[in-house]
Amino acid sequence: MEKNKLTKKGDSYFPTKEFQKRAWVNNKRIYKEALKNPIKFWEGLAKELFWQKKWKKIFIHQPPYFKWFVNGKINITQNALDKNLKQRRNKVALIWEPEPMEERQRVFTYYDLFREVNKLANAFKKIGVKKGARVGIYLPMIPEVIISMLACVRIGAVHAVVFSAFSPKALQVRLQDTEAKILITADGYYRRGKLVNLKQNADEGVKETKVEKVVVVKRAGNEINFQPDRDYWYQDLIKNQNDWCQAESMDSEDLLFILYTSGSTGKPKGCVHTCGGYTVQAKLTAKWIFDLKEDDIFWSMADVGWVTGHTYSCYGPLLCGATYIIFEGAPDWPAPDRWCQIIEKYGVTTFYTAPTAIRMFEKYGSEFPRKYKLNTLQVLGSVGEPIDEAAWQWYFKEVGKGKCPLVDTWWQTETGGILITSLPGIGPFKPSFTGLPFPGTKFDIFDDKGKSCSSNKPGNLVMLPPFAPGLLRGIYKNPEKYLETYWNQYGKKVYFTSDGAYKDKNGLIRIVGRVDDAIKVAGHRITTGELESAVALHPDVTECAVVGAADEIKGEVPMVFAVSKTKKPEEQIKTEIISQIRKEIGPIAQPKEVYLVKDLPKTRSGKIMRRILRRLFTGEELGDLSTLANPESMEEIKCKLK
Ligand code: WTA
Repeated sequence: MEKNKLTKKGDSYFPTKEFQKRAWVNNKRIYKEALKNPIKFWEGLAKELFWQKKWKKIFIHQPPYFKWFVNGKINITQNALDKNLKQRRNKVALIWEPEPMEERQRVFTYYDLFREVNKLANAFKKIGVKKGARVGIYLPMIPEVIISMLACVRIGAVHAVVFSAFSPKALQVRLQDTEAKILITADGYYRRGKLVNLKQNADEGVKETKVEKVVVVKRAGNEINFQPDRDYWYQDLIKNQNDWCQAESMDSEDLLFILYTSGSTGKPKGCVHTCGGYTVQAKLTAKWIFDLKEDDIFWSMADVGWVTGHTYSCYGPLLCGATYIIFEGAPDWPAPDRWCQIIEKYGVTTFYTAPTAIRMFEKYGSEFPRKYKLNTLQVLGSVGEPIDEAAWQWYFKEVGKGKCPLVDTWWQTETGGILITSLPGIGPFKPSFTGLPFPGTKFDIFDDKGKSCSSNKPGNLVMLPPFAPGLLRGIYKNPEKYLETYWNQYGKKVYFTSDGAYKDKNGLIRIVGRVDDAIKVAGHRITTGELESAVALHPDVTECAVVGAADEIKGEVPMVFAVSKTKKPEEQIKTEIISQIRKEIGPIAQPKEVYLVKDLPKTRSGKIMRRILRRLFTGEELGDLSTLANPESMEEIKCKLK
């Protein structure tokens, strides 16, 4: 189909009439109607799903706690799989693109996926996995990661997926917190042409945890240390299993999964998501925001180790009965045009990626997207960090050819699904603005006193009741942290997002960035606090501070300042600090620079002034240093940076 260019009015773009006509939602009245009674609105949407038993009450609020679809019974897999067997049994559900170019893709129809999930669910039962049990999943982007997640929730087990590029130590901390007795991992996988021995990391990571059984997917065929009393080959385990397994009856408010996000110290926070609300939100956001239709091919580049991968590389597209792609490798491997080649190969219609990737693609050059047929694309999405105007324009023009709505989607691990964006059939698409709150949700921007900010005035982004159904219900085993992080700033009826933002005169929201110590490194959320904990473990480091600095491609990168009193050569300590970070967290947290300094700027009460260190990288004036207890520390640091 020949597509027209989007129309531009003022500084925003709007969908074409043709697009609008076909879109699931295409009238801006929906916002007003939803807000008249958000609770009823969500109830209407929930009816699109299959419930084993209908809810008794839609929403209960006992601040700060809340429940959705109370007493309803649901199983997400019946909605993602069984429901699709009627109309689209032999439709392709999942396409897996391996990293090595010479290897063939694997394709699963809805029926295939259904049977694989059921077999594994039965196998899980056989090895003792019960409803409510936590299961660790430490797998790369291979079909078995999707099958494992679905098999867990089929039987009511709670998955905790750990990003496969996280270090053994990061895996261990998460497994300890969940007290999982089972871990699913793989022998190895490919990343940028290199084989990663994942099983070795897993063996290391399960030490001093409650893990009793390790299921190993044979992916790369590399040699592993197989422990017969503990390890099972995935492929053996599912052999001869029945391909039907009763879907467990789950209460709306039962745990669906736990996903960890960085905490401000070394300890990550396990965000708790529940069965009813998450399912409703995952389905409706995927359907409306990506406008997923029967013939769409959806590709989200996000790894399942992150929330984007949970909601839009696993549950969302399946709940919509869509066909979607997961990709094992890096989008610029073995050549910068791999991502274009994948779009062309499968005729991708809906493409979802992060600004870091867009900036990287742009840097490689427009000749790559121009060499390929990208004309199947209908909707483009961006997620994870603010997208600057230049990257937005490049993505819109060079990838979408000016013909695709570009939805910039704001959300968090905590929110379970997208909550602020423009809808593709309505618009407006305004570069660097994410858009409006999803219908049925209320957001505002508050000043420090909790007063709503007027347009263009930056403040803190907050969500107001009734809250999105998919919003987290707690932090696993840490109720105090839940209260302190989200319900403390403005009281128990206001969800504090930790993002700074402002609205334009039309109410479109622009995200400025985090107001806590989280930084977004290539779209990955890590905290400077957790980096500092890692650095502080180095025996020769007496004090340290980590700040985020702007980076042309990655958005932000960590900069480490460390005080070390040894006589070891500087280069050696720096290398050791970097490997310490890689050991504690993983390569994604690698700092751009490590500065060894004699002292850190401090207030008279001894607090490290990270704000001043941050300014070293923004080009701002450092401000009045005379209030510091040790202003001379900054002189030395400035010299180091020259
Ligand atoms: C940031 C990722 C600007 C924000 C889904 C948020 C964004 C944090 C956007 C959550 C966006 C996410 N524009 N900033 N479109 N999307 N963020 O938990 O700071 O990894 O609080 O979830 O990413 O990161 P998380």
